[in-house]
Amino acid sequence: MRRIAILGSTGSIGRSTLSVAESYPERFQIVALAAGANLDAASEQARRWRPRVISMASEPDADRLRARLKQAGLSEIEVLYGPAGVVKIATHSEADFVVSAIVGVAGLEATYEAVKAGKIVGVANKECLVAAGELITAEARKQGKPLLPIDSEHNAVHQCLRGGRIEEVERIWLTASGGPFLNMPRSEFSSITVEQALNHPTWKMGKRITIDSATLMNKGFEVIEACRLFHMSPSKVEVIVHPQSTIHSMVEFVDGSILAQFSVTDMRLPILYALTYPERIQSDMRFPVRDLRHLDFSPPDMSKFPCLRLAYEAAEAGGARTVALNAADEVAVAAFLEGSIAFDEIPRIIEGTVAASNSGKLGSIEGVLQADAEARRYAQKAVGKLSGAGRARATSFI
Ligand SMILES: NC(=O)c1ccc[n+]([C@@H]2O[C@H](COP(=O)([O-])OP(=O)(O)OC[C@H]3O[C@@H](n4cnc5c(N)ncnc54)[C@H](OP(=O)(O)O)[C@@H]3O)[C@@H](O)[C@H]2O)c1
Repeated sequence: MRRIAILGSTGSIGRSTLSVAESYPERFQIVALAAGANLDAASEQARRWRPRVISMASEPDADRLRARLKQAGLSEIEVLYGPAGVVKIATHSEADFVVSAIVGVAGLEATYEAVKAGKIVGVANKECLVAAGELITAEARKQGKPLLPIDSEHNAVHQCLRGGRIEEVERIWLTASGGPFLNMPRSEFSSITVEQALNHPTWKMGKRITIDSATLMNKGFEVIEACRLFHMSPSKVEVIVHPQSTIHSMVEFVDGSILAQFSVTDMRLPILYALTYPERIQSDMRFPVRDLRHLDFSPPDMSKFPCLRLAYEAAEAGGARTVALNAADEVAVAAFLEGSIAFDEIPRIIEGTVAASNSGKLGSIEGVLQADAEARRYAQKAVGKLSGAGRARATSFI
């Protein structure tokens, strides 16, 4: 029986993990859950799964959840809150497997603490690997525990790597759907609406990662994630646009053999792989191979999607540069979602913030969080200037 704690249980990955657990009750037990602000979902999950402990992002929400659980006769479920609450979920003594699926740097500390506590960690939260991947992977090596990628591309690479040794790898090929604007001329990018950007062609995901997929920053993060997880230099990780998203990624070996992984586009499959690794177990997620007709590939256009170029540059520089990359993206995407900046202003905010950051190595999680806070302040100011200029432009037309 695998005893699971989920960080980000109310999100897209968190719910998919619970759906996998639902399908295999004899294999998986849910012992701890961490939610953000979705009180209804957290309350429903607590009633369904009866975890030992559940955490909310804020104290008032934790109070409300406690009251609801009391009313439902479930006072024995402990309710925590805030970053300290998430760390307690991540290090809970009864959990042996932690699914890291909080979005953004908010999940960093707890993910690191889970690794440090010797848990097996299934990592969906790519931002924590972008910001502090070197520290997290070093700690996992020290603990002798695997870090299992849930991100579909890295999960595919992990599977392909079972076909050879890491020294035998020539190159990792990360596939990218290209997002909803693959064929849109760049001149139209400034008028892209939030609704258009949230309409991903192949995957249904949280808002941040969906916008990151539209700018290709998601793929840039994945390049950094691959470098960190598989100890590769950025020059050995190549992105290839593959609009069908059938092949989830490939590994090319020194002898010229290329292993690819393909399967249905359903996140429950990489989650199941991680939860049962090193075993494979029966599932009903079948790919209709006979229906497969063609697979398209093309190189990414980095001038149209500058976020991918910025990610490669930050990956080469390392240290605080990748922290700034993620922090600036987090701020810029939030500003785009709330209508303060245009779609094509997202890379501008990121480029300016990364250029203003250090490239020095960061030796601790505290150092990473400090660099993250500095970059966020810088990016926030840049958003303020741009949105101020945008308002001035808009009012001058009235
Ligand atoms: N979705 C995918 O298919 C996919 C694929 C690959 C990788 N990933 C990665 O997996 C991570 C999660 O993605 P997602 O699509 O599942 O995102 P999502 O649907 O937006 O879910 C995010 C989760 O994080 C929680 N959360 C946010 N801020 C928090 C805080 N301060 N404290 C505690 N919990 C907090 C949210 O809680 P509330 O909802 O309760 O506020 C929610 O449970 C991201 O890093 C993403 O890049 C996702």
